[in-house]
Amino acid sequence: MASAEAETERRKRSHIETTMQQDVQFRTKKTGFDDVELVHNALPAINRDDVDLSVRLFDHELSAPLVIESMTGGTAAAARLNEILGQAAQELKIAIGVGSQRAGIEKPELAYTYRVVRDKAPDALVFANIGAPQLVKGYGLKEMRKAVEMVDADALYVHLNGVQECVQVEGEPLFRGAMDKIREGAEQLGVPIVLKETGAGFSHETAEFAEKAGVKAIDVAGAGGTSWAAVEYYRAREQSSQIHEKVGEVFWDWGIPTVASVVEVSHSTHLTVIASGGVRNGLHGAKALALGADAFGLALPFLKSTPGGVEEVTERLQTILLELRTAMFLTGSRNVAELQTSPAVIRGLTREWLDARGFNPDEYAKRKR
Ligand SMILES: Cc1cc2nc3c(=O)[nH]c(=O)nc-3n(C[C@H](O)[C@H](O)[C@H](O)COP(=O)(O)O)c2cc1C
Repeated sequence: MASAEAETERRKRSHIETTMQQDVQFRTKKTGFDDVELVHNALPAINRDDVDLSVRLFDHELSAPLVIESMTGGTAAAARLNEILGQAAQELKIAIGVGSQRAGIEKPELAYTYRVVRDKAPDALVFANIGAPQLVKGYGLKEMRKAVEMVDADALYVHLNGVQECVQVEGEPLFRGAMDKIREGAEQLGVPIVLKETGAGFSHETAEFAEKAGVKAIDVAGAGGTSWAAVEYYRAREQSSQIHEKVGEVFWDWGIPTVASVVEVSHSTHLTVIASGGVRNGLHGAKALALGADAFGLALPFLKSTPGGVEEVTERLQTILLELRTAMFLTGSRNVAELQTSPAVIRGLTREWLDARGFNPDEYAKRKR
């Protein structure tokens, strides 16, 4: 047991090192944000400073619909990163997720590496995090509660990482029965469960299935940003596993592009939708909101800002918020609700995808709310 736990910690460290040092983003597949145009309003009836970015998400007032996506925990170095990210989330009054809490659940002395987020961000909307394969291997309501209590979370992310588990040398591609545990959690946990991909997106079929099971929200984490096949490809290479390296190479660009996923999920369900996976600026965020998302999130760019400490992460966040504000001003959107009903034009591969998947071109640019 002790060596298995040590392995989880080693893996966490290696994920951070690999994502910091290598290019782990999708190679040819794009998020689709370049296919989306918001329609310029030459004569908005507002000043830029009039724009109100605030939203209410999971009973929480946020200064903007922005999430620092789940990344880490489980090692002393991860605790330092979480401290920086938590402090930034508190300063800007946005939402933040911790990384998979398996290490903290199995080794309580590591709980502090996650808890530090709540300590630094007492007022933030905080997401706990647990992996579906762990649910299949025996975790249940008890472990979900532990994860939530560890960070005093407002909601629980259950992450789905099928691609990663298939490429990872130590991977466990186990999903049979996961939905039963998720349903049980949705009924009894007491905080909302948010299903979250990790870079391959959700189809409308999966989203509809999740909604029926009682899930309240989906974080699409679609294709086009960080590729977990890529991360595990580099790790397989280090471990001299040519088979896993090959599988990683082949599935590097696997997944539903983020924009297509946002439209699929938000137009087929009433779930709260968080757009992530390759969101790289506030204009991407604005486009996601206009297409039906309720919030948007980024992971890798914030990790890459952590060497500059809280100052650099905060500056990155402020830039994104100014870009969002600018997009809202230029579309004449006074608030997020108005942006969500403002027109968008979808072209190119994203339009092809949505047509092929049966979404009506006259409707898919605007969510039925
Ligand atoms: C270093 C790193 C670690 C991550 N760890 C987790 C995790 O533990 N749990 C999880 O749900 N997602 C995890 N993710 C996935 C992100 O939350 C996000 O869904 C994905 O990276 C796509 O966003 P991006 O393109 O902005 O990076 C991690 C991402 C990175 C970069």
